[in-house]
Amino acid sequence: MNNIGAARWPHILSPFRLGTLELPNRSVVAPMTRISADADGVPTAQMTEHYSAFARGGFGLIITEGTHPDLTQSQGYRDQPGIATPAQIEGWRQVTNAVHDEGGRIILQLMHAGALVQDNRYTDETIAPSAVQPAGEMAARYYGDGPFKMPRAMTREEISTVVESFGTAAQNAMEAGFDGVEIHGANGYLPVQFLTPETNTRTDEYGGSLENRLRFHREIMVAVVKGVAGRGLAGMRISQSRSSDFSFKWGGGVEDARAIFAALAADGADFIHVSTHQGLGEEFGTGRTLAGLAREFANLPIIACGKLEVPDNAEHILMAEEADLVAIARGAIGDPSWPNKLAAGEPPVAFDPEMISPFATLDATDEWRAANGVSFEG
Ligand SMILES: Cc1cc2nc3c(=O)[nH]c(=O)nc-3n(C[C@H](O)[C@H](O)[C@H](O)COP(=O)(O)O)c2cc1C
Repeated sequence: MNNIGAARWPHILSPFRLGTLELPNRSVVAPMTRISADADGVPTAQMTEHYSAFARGGFGLIITEGTHPDLTQSQGYRDQPGIATPAQIEGWRQVTNAVHDEGGRIILQLMHAGALVQDNRYTDETIAPSAVQPAGEMAARYYGDGPFKMPRAMTREEISTVVESFGTAAQNAMEAGFDGVEIHGANGYLPVQFLTPETNTRTDEYGGSLENRLRFHREIMVAVVKGVAGRGLAGMRISQSRSSDFSFKWGGGVEDARAIFAALAADGADFIHVSTHQGLGEEFGTGRTLAGLAREFANLPIIACGKLEVPDNAEHILMAEEADLVAIARGAIGDPSWPNKLAAGEPPVAFDPEMISPFATLDATDEWRAANGVSFEG
């Protein structure tokens, strides 16, 4: 990487050791659902090219789109990839090989949709901690339309089965050549449905107190740590905001933050990824960002996210030691060579919502680039 930008962005462009991974800089591709796997949830050649472009473009680490761990209720979107069948594992192996060949590193995001299913090819029924219909409407960008279904409350046996499926999926991720696994514990999906009192009215050990509502997060964290078995990293993505409610805040404020982040560290997480819409926003009147609070309470490497494609924002959060790494979502769709552009002192191509319209598919982005004469091919 050419380093004209290193003087201007010394923190973004400095190396970092994340567990066993040596990252050349602090930039991370944030997880982004792109509904572009084949009808069996198998990653395609187009996805291989999509992920290798980020490695070529200089990103220190890539986190994949949310991927379903089982062949029952976890799939949330049409053409979402899975990591449960031999073909899905093999498809992901093509992706990890291509990223590694470009000198990159890649982590798989595991996601269980819970009640927020828009499309599932295995079953018509949705499950959740309690039978509470989700607020909000399905997203048209992912082929959704209208309200979500009323989910069925999970039995304790089903909870154990789902926890186990996360462990198995983590083993499958290692077999597929990933450098680690991130659990999607954010944005309103199944773990958040357990954490939130309004969607979790259980009276057993998974409901009631924060300790109980956090139990599912902790069990899947432990299962994934065991599944990767030291062969890769294990981490969790956490947010307060949900896809149906961007402004949602934890009821217990900073004390909830302390309990959640400390618990994940105790359970063996190697990193925590804090997802917010404004990475630099302060929380609970502390004058700190949520990432900064996670860093203090977990004492682990922290990935921050939310409007950090603005290099001044990314540089600021790193310099203030509120985060160790910066994840970029929409900015990375705009320009998969965002880090190399910064290093060369060139402006990255800006994100345009048309790049994911009318659907958030890779085809939509490829079409936008063809129409605008922009290419990132190797
Ligand atoms: C098209 C698209 C798909 C997304 N899919 C996921 C996902 O699969 N998992 C996840 O944790 N977040 C997902 N997100 C949220 C982003 O990772 C990120 O938190 C959010 O876009 C804010 O970051 P930004 O300001 O850099 O875009 C998605 C965002 C976009 C724009």
